[in-house]
Parts: sequence; C-alpha cells; structure tokens
Amino acid sequence: MIDIQRLPKHIAIIMDGNGRWAQARGMVRSKGHQAGVEAVDRVTAECSRMGIKYLTLYTFSTENWNRPPEEVNAIMQLLITSLVEETFMKNNVRMRVIGDRKRLSPEVRKCIEDCEEHTSVNNGLTLVIALSYSSRWEITDAVQHIARQVLEGNIKPADINEQTIAENLESHFMPDPELLIRTGGEQRISNYLLWQCAYSELYFTDIFWPDFDEKALHQAIEDYQQRERRFGKTSAQVKAETEK
Ligand code: FPP
Repeated sequence: MIDIQRLPKHIAIIMDGNGRWAQARGMVRSKGHQAGVEAVDRVTAECSRMGIKYLTLYTFSTENWNRPPEEVNAIMQLLITSLVEETFMKNNVRMRVIGDRKRLSPEVRKCIEDCEEHTSVNNGLTLVIALSYSSRWEITDAVQHIARQVLEGNIKPADINEQTIAENLESHFMPDPELLIRTGGEQRISNYLLWQCAYSELYFTDIFWPDFDEKALHQAIEDYQQRERRFGKTSAQVKAETEK
C-alpha cells in the first residue's frame, strides 16, 4: 500500500524500451514511440491525481540526435502533436522543457514555448520534458554562465559553492528527484540528471515504456517507500530523527 503522506515530490523517468516494444510486435520503431505517448499521458494523469509535484521525463537525449533522421523526425512530430495545451490546462499541469533548444527546429521551439507560456498559470503537477538534454551538456552550460559572471566581476571564484551550481542549471526551478525510474531493463543513468540524482533512489524495471501503467508506477513508489534514505548518515541517526 502506498503511504500517501510520504509520496516523492519529484519523480524522474527514463522512458526506455519503445523500439524493442515495437520490434517485438513486428512494427517500425516509431510505432513504439507513439505507444509511448499513451504511457506518458497515463503516468502524467496518475502523478497529477496523486498530488506529485514534479515529473521529469527523459524524452530525447543529446545522443539521440545520432539516430536515423526518420526516427528523429517521427519523435519531433509526435511531440508537436502530443503536447496538447488543452489537456494540460484541463488538468492544471504546468509544462516546462529542459535541454539545448538551439538544436530544435523553429516549429518544435515555437510549440514548446507557447505551451510553456500558456501553462505557466497552472499550479498542479509540473511536467518537465527533458528534450535535446544531457546532464553533461547542462553542467557545461552552467559552468559557462558562472564563468561569465566571474569575468563580469559579479562572483568571486572562492564564493562558488553547490548552490551556485544548482542555481545556474537549466533545471534550477525543480527540487532534486527522490525517485528515478528506468523502464526497459537496462540499469544505467545515461547522462540524465547526474547532479540532481546524487541521492535519488534508483528503480529499474524490465517493463517496456509503452506498457508502463498506473500499477507499475504504484509498484515503483511502494518500493521507494520501503527504502531507508540515509544521506550519508547511519541507520540509527535516521531512526532517531524520524522518531523525534
Ligand atoms: C527510448 O526508447 C525512448 C525515446 C528515445 C523517445 C521517447 C519519446 C516518447 C515516448 C514520446 C514522448 C512524448 C511526449 C509527449 C513526452 P528506445 O527507442 O531507446 O527503445 P529501445 O531501447 O527499445 O530501442
């Protein structure tokens, strides 16, 4: 049973297995991404219903630009058709994108910018789409920002601390995810939220993303709730703190 009082505030997901899901059915890979959008809708609606505040989806990585152009185009088209403002407005969902927008086509950029602007009034779930995103890109970009501020004399190198770095990340507006889920059977982080996941609980499942549903989400949350989060302290210290 899920303890509704101890839900993670932020769940991050690596949505893997779309291609294999399609290939197992004799379909082209893009059909797997299409089915993946239905899973995005299901999981977004359920997180929203449960009262989870942030959901971050690894939608397209910097490395995914190296896929065949037909597949890249199919994913970009799917984004344009699936980021439906009306659905977000109806469900009080705020949509935001993190990633290197310079590489996106003007059409995709316009679509996400409009959607971000119009949904900025919503205060339910924040759905963060990691698009043209990689964590090393994000950290490099933050370092460039900070270096410029040093050059302009606004910060001293000795004053740079963890907070300075976190504030200069594209994802500065969201708390660190307590739970990172990866579907599709692989057990790696693939350049996703490396800074933010320093203390996240990792949950891996063999389920391919298009098959991921409410039940699978609940299982991941239940598993997370059984973990003891120590943040470097001892088990006895953590227990004493929770009994206070
Ligand atoms: C990974 O599976 C999935 C992707 C690279 C694309 C995910 C994109 C979507 C689900 C569409 C998202 C839409 C919205 C609205 C957020 P894979 O292709 O690497 O699978 P494989 O490991 O089986 O090849």
